[in-house]
Amino acid sequence: MTENNKDELSWDEWDELMRPTEETTGFDRVVEAGLSRRGFLNGLVAFGSGAAVMGLGTGVNLLNTASAQAQDAGRFAFTPVTTATDATVHVPEGYTWDLLVKWGDKLFSDAAEFDHATGGDAESSDRVFGENTDGMELFVFGDKQVIAVNHEYVNPKINLPHTEDGKPQAAADVRKLQNLQGVAVMEVAEGENGWSVVVDSPYNRRITHNTPMRISGPAAGHDLLKTEADPTGTQSLGTFNNCGAGKTPWGTYLTCEENFNGYFGSTDENYERPEDFKRYGINNESRYNYEKFDDRFDISKNFNEPRRAGYIVEIDPGDPTSTPVKRTALGRFKHENAACAVARDGRVVVYMGDDERGEFLYKFVSDGVYTPGASTDNLLDEGTLYVARFNDDGSGEWLALTEETTGMSTAEISIYSRMAASKVGATTMDRPEWVAVNPVAVEAYCALTNNKNRAVKPNAGGDPTPVNGPNPRAENHYGQIVRWYPANDDHVDPGFKWDLFVMAGNPLVHEDAYAGSANINDGNLFNSPDGMMFDTSGLLWIQTDGNYKNEGDFAGMGNNQMLVGDPVTGRIERFMTVPYGSEVTGITWSADKRTLFVGIQHPAAPFPDGEGKLARSSVIAVKRADNGRIG
Ligand code: FEO
Ligand code: CA
Ligand code: CA
Repeated sequence: MTENNKDELSWDEWDELMRPTEETTGFDRVVEAGLSRRGFLNGLVAFGSGAAVMGLGTGVNLLNTASAQAQDAGRFAFTPVTTATDATVHVPEGYTWDLLVKWGDKLFSDAAEFDHATGGDAESSDRVFGENTDGMELFVFGDKQVIAVNHEYVNPKINLPHTEDGKPQAAADVRKLQNLQGVAVMEVAEGENGWSVVVDSPYNRRITHNTPMRISGPAAGHDLLKTEADPTGTQSLGTFNNCGAGKTPWGTYLTCEENFNGYFGSTDENYERPEDFKRYGINNESRYNYEKFDDRFDISKNFNEPRRAGYIVEIDPGDPTSTPVKRTALGRFKHENAACAVARDGRVVVYMGDDERGEFLYKFVSDGVYTPGASTDNLLDEGTLYVARFNDDGSGEWLALTEETTGMSTAEISIYSRMAASKVGATTMDRPEWVAVNPVAVEAYCALTNNKNRAVKPNAGGDPTPVNGPNPRAENHYGQIVRWYPANDDHVDPGFKWDLFVMAGNPLVHEDAYAGSANINDGNLFNSPDGMMFDTSGLLWIQTDGNYKNEGDFAGMGNNQMLVGDPVTGRIERFMTVPYGSEVTGITWSADKRTLFVGIQHPAAPFPDGEGKLARSSVIAVKRADNGRIG
């Protein structure tokens, strides 16, 4: 692989490259287990049209029959769109889409106009909408609407067009990249010409890789978080690789640090990494060479700095002067998103996926209860972190990570959550992406996007990844969505039942499990579910980040897309397709639910400005032509 190609890798592909296959940890055993489980699966379940594939062992079968479809016809207020391979967005007939904002647009009037020749002015790069839009939430303050939105990573060749290879050549280049990531908070308003950002609104704010953060929870002040610049271990700078998001019941924004590992590197190529760096994929080589111009990212000089990243960060979108808080009680891993629920007794539950092959699904349960109007300060600092075990019989349990179960202190559990989870026998998953909690039923869903290493290779901690109940296919290129039903209809209960809502697949190419579940048909083919959010009516909006080559195993799937699923019937229909090369990620609604905001990340096509212009990640506003509600 050439250096050039290496820069084009997605974050998970890059991590794979940095972690060559380990010969240890019972590799053969893993494959063997996978094969025997495959036999088990085939014995139990028939795949393909009309087969009852849902609810492996749970007895819960979704109906995909004509009568069920007739029943729920009214739930889908659109005619599904076909696949696309072009450079634009498609929505159903009777719907429209328009741009809200794109990378480089001004949040403040003193920022420079975007210039395609320079990739935007470096000086004002923290005064504009950042790069690679991702998770977002909308907040209402009186008659104002404010969106908080993540800027996950950068595309240096696009963002630094004066460099041929996208590698920063000076501290100013690093600073520009650091400024284009993080979070944007911006007021939005709908006028005669549609939606736009309210430039210079007092709510507007950019949070970057250099914004002061407070570290709270069990790990705050621990020796592992202390640095020369911060001997207290409670004050860090920046939030990194902000992927999915969440909203607390009290109206704050949760931004989730995912592939934080890739920002740190060593200027000393002989630096010997500690064990935990290996589990978290922190390498001597970084993705953007920050360490060459900014010592904070040089692990040979500041080895505790990466231990201050990989958390969920709480931001008050109503107060632009507030200090974001890193909530260490929610664990440290490659956080995808944070889906909150309030349990029957008022305790707060946060479901979270760790997006790496063979990593785990977590939930946090607060000690205290949420009382509207009362202080929420400690709710995300004091509580218990759990990790999921899925049994093949359709049952499951949340395993508490405590000093007793792990032999680690609470602070260590917060910092080395992956190692803690490995000790209690959690189920290795196919890259847990977004979790979504159904607002009209006591159940939650997690997109397991894909895992080419299932039954091939253990996870980074050496945990075997045999084919198992919720991850039933070896070398899984398509992904699936697992859902669980908390015991006693209570999100704090440690027990649950689970089934698969859908297994993506391709019945045009395969006749076995890789054809997908019965609710997959030639009208809704997709792969790699990723972003997910429920609307208020209980329909599940599913966004994909997958293979868009439209050939081979992925023939007939086209560009990435957004689909709508009905949890009751299992029916899934395609609502939107996005430009070639882009992933669709991030979704939120206007206060009146008449506008759906959707993120379009990393287009490879020249979207939205056309040929000869830089591609720009964008947020679009989707409406019904009759201005009816969308979810
Ligand atoms: Fe940033 Fe796992 O997606
Ligand atoms: Ca994602
Ligand atoms: Ca993804």
